[in-house]
Amino acid sequence: MKQNKNIFTSVYECLMETDLDLKISKVAQLQIDWADEQFEFSSSETVLRVSDPGRPKKPLLVSPKELPKRRLGSPEGHAALMHSIAHIEFNAVNLALDAIYRFQDMPKRFYLDWLGVAGEESYHFQMIREHLYHLGYEYGDMVAHDGLWMTTYETDHDPLVRMALVPRTLEARGLDVTPPMIQKLRSIGDKRGVEILKILLQDEIGHVEVGSRWFRYICEERHLNPFNTFQAIIENYYHGDLRGPFNYEARAQAGFCEQEIAWLKTLNQP
Ligand SMILES: [Fe+2]
Repeated sequence: MKQNKNIFTSVYECLMETDLDLKISKVAQLQIDWADEQFEFSSSETVLRVSDPGRPKKPLLVSPKELPKRRLGSPEGHAALMHSIAHIEFNAVNLALDAIYRFQDMPKRFYLDWLGVAGEESYHFQMIREHLYHLGYEYGDMVAHDGLWMTTYETDHDPLVRMALVPRTLEARGLDVTPPMIQKLRSIGDKRGVEILKILLQDEIGHVEVGSRWFRYICEERHLNPFNTFQAIIENYYHGDLRGPFNYEARAQAGFCEQEIAWLKTLNQP
């Protein structure tokens, strides 16, 4: 029988799943069900705010200031870097799912795009988790911080603000910081780590591009100038400093237009 499942309730169930392995298999099931045309798209009566998405009891979440600083040169520091990446990838699964569940009046293509992102983030998480395991640790063995979900929660009222701040600001930061991380891993001889991070970087360009594309789509629908709107959202909502160095090439591939790149270059002045 076709179309016997509701996309939004199915995605919500996966979003709230606390068990790591079950969440991974539920993401895979969502993709299978999409491919089999099992989903219907009628909206939920109420869309719930999600202050705390489904995640395991560990890692313990602390404020960014409380994260211990470790040198990459030590085995523990090496594992800590992998642990922090695992945490980002795990969160990224939840934020892709949240974009589907929350914004229920978007075109179907929006849901397909974000389901694809959820699938890739789940694959990233599994690769990093396995690598971390080879370094002697499990995801959850160290503390982590919750900045990514906080911004997701704070942008749950409007897909325009969400697209600007989550993929185009926070995830785009990943494009800037991953190449130096690859260099560091190379310098300590972590070949598998280098290999994984290269895959992550390539895929993340695609995820930020999904954000850029839907950001522009909503701007067009609302007759907004995308360049001015992006700047206004950063000014009004972003708590951090938008600071370089930026990976201009990756950002251009991820849908940052020439005007935005030129603006980023002004922010990168010393
Ligand atoms: Fe990822």
